[in-house]
Amino acid sequence: MRIAVCPGSFDPVTEGHLDVIKRATQLFDKVIVSVIENPRKKPLLSVKQRINFLKNATKDLSNVEVEGFSGLLIDFARRKKANAILKGLRAVSDFEYEFQMAQMNRKLDSKIETIFIITSPIFAYLSSSMVKEVAQYNGCIEGLVPKEVSVEFNKVFQKNKRRK
Ligand code: PNS
Repeated sequence: MRIAVCPGSFDPVTEGHLDVIKRATQLFDKVIVSVIENPRKKPLLSVKQRINFLKNATKDLSNVEVEGFSGLLIDFARRKKANAILKGLRAVSDFEYEFQMAQMNRKLDSKIETIFIITSPIFAYLSSSMVKEVAQYNGCIEGLVPKEVSVEFNKVFQKNKRRK
């Protein structure tokens, strides 16, 4: 059984993430979308919300599971008996950081390969942080994130505006 873990903060999940996840389901028997519980940057959404949005957005993909993890990714991948860590690459600017992480993970366990899928060009500019910034200033994020996420973001940011 070929198993991939697909890690990230997913704060929130974007259509770019979903593009990579869907394409990964064609290459692996099982794809475990792995949501880091305490990312370096303080997340806007709780881990429960991030997982729920992902579960909803991937409910029609029968070989996808969504789980939270903390600690080292490589330890989580080992526990899940994964063969690969799967990441999306958008542009050259992603490369340096991803290269470093891939080499470190390889040093920690050379049996687990890091594999990159190049994001579809229509999502090449998209990031969770940009989505949050646009939503915060009342810009339209429809089509960039699953519908449920844009509805929730509109609620969150409208509420914050009323408080000010
Ligand atoms: O979506 P992100 O924020 O770019 O995801 C980053 C993530 C979760 C893949 C990365 O921070 C990670 O793997 N964290 C776990 C800690 C770890 O294993 N560090 C050592 C390898 S660099």
